[in-house]
Amino acid sequence: MNFEACNPTRLIFGAGTLAQLGEVTSRYGTKAMVVTGGNSVKRSGVFDRAMASLKAAGVATVECSGIEPNPRITSVKRGVDIARRENCDVVIALGGGSTMDASKVIAAAALYDGDPWDLIGHGQENWVIPPQALPIITVPTLAATGSEMNAGAVISNDETKVKSFVSTECLFPKVALVDPELTLTVPKDQTAYGVCDIITHVTEGYFNGVNGTPIQDRFAEGVIINAIEWGRKAVADGNDLEAREQVQWASIVALNGWVNAGTNFVPPVHMIEHALSAHHDITHGAGLAIVNPAWMRFAATSRPERFAQFAQRVFGLSPEGKDDMTLATEGIDAYVAFLKEIGCPTTLSEVGIGDELFEQYAKDAALVVHDADGNLLGRPAMSRDDIVEVLRSAQ
Ligand code: NZQ
Ligand code: ZN
Repeated sequence: MNFEACNPTRLIFGAGTLAQLGEVTSRYGTKAMVVTGGNSVKRSGVFDRAMASLKAAGVATVECSGIEPNPRITSVKRGVDIARRENCDVVIALGGGSTMDASKVIAAAALYDGDPWDLIGHGQENWVIPPQALPIITVPTLAATGSEMNAGAVISNDETKVKSFVSTECLFPKVALVDPELTLTVPKDQTAYGVCDIITHVTEGYFNGVNGTPIQDRFAEGVIINAIEWGRKAVADGNDLEAREQVQWASIVALNGWVNAGTNFVPPVHMIEHALSAHHDITHGAGLAIVNPAWMRFAATSRPERFAQFAQRVFGLSPEGKDDMTLATEGIDAYVAFLKEIGCPTTLSEVGIGDELFEQYAKDAALVVHDADGNLLGRPAMSRDDIVEVLRSAQ
């Protein structure tokens, strides 16, 4: 095992920490652009509390509101215009993964002279990996993506129907100010989709990483087991702060580089889901609930022992008298049962997606993360036909 790991983001975690936003921001700038999504932070009063904290610390503010779920490059451009016009020197993301991702790319594009879409990898010849960004502070209001403490951002282009990503060091937030109280207002469905996203971040590494990572395996299994246990509680009772805290913490560790350190993984399920949400604007976590089990059934045939381990260790299923493939299938069935229990869709028909564009999704999924033959990377690598087959099995 040879690897390098780095996560420079300072994490401030706990109920009530929103009150520190002003003081924390004042360490990085004097004029903040506060980026928000739709109206949820206004409805909940979180926006007013954030502004009060900033004002008390003497930080001037300008708002960039209206970042949509599956954030568009057009919203990023709008944010860049505001940041430049208003001479902002720090960017605060107050919202879900969409708001955080848009904020990161705004922070980088504000210091880049060309088209912000150049910064997102979408198969172009010259992908401009941003070298610098304004300081970013993330304040998540939804536990799902882990964007609060990682260097990734996922942006959609409505014109080309491509949804893709950038991940690079300057996009690490300076501070992730994580107050799980802010997630108490997240509705049941979004809570469940968030839990699914968290689990999928871990399964991508668990099933697509290199061999010989026993410590990471146990980390991953621990995160999945806890996301299931506490996710179930958070969905059942949105006001259960302890459950919200645990789910929020799971969201962070699932994708801040720690659980997957040294696994050298690639995320095929995410690449396929991004193609779906690019075309149909479905919620990312809901798309994953559909694609991941279908992909697991496909991948298990080439590595049943790995999926049998998952069944045994995560769901406590007995291996007695079963071959690996039987146990693997039982584990995947148990996972699907959990997804259904918390209210996630598990078939494409439930979200109204037909088979008309299957070939297109297969092409889009491998736009960036592919081998020399154009196959989508993962274990196993997938041809376009393989991706179509997985999608057919998810109908
Ligand atoms: O827009 P508002 O009004 O805030 O409402 C949002 C939105 O409708 C609502 N919401 C958020 N916090 C709330 C709340 N409603 C009530 N109370 C609150 N406290 O939830 C809805 C979904 O929000 P969104 O930000 O879109 O969800 P999520 O956090 O799941 O982010 C999804 C985006 O992140 C990308 C996804 O592809 C998708 O574009 N991802 C980013 C990653 C990263 N940067 O590392 C990794 C992920 O795998 C993922 O791809
Ligand atoms: Zn995800």
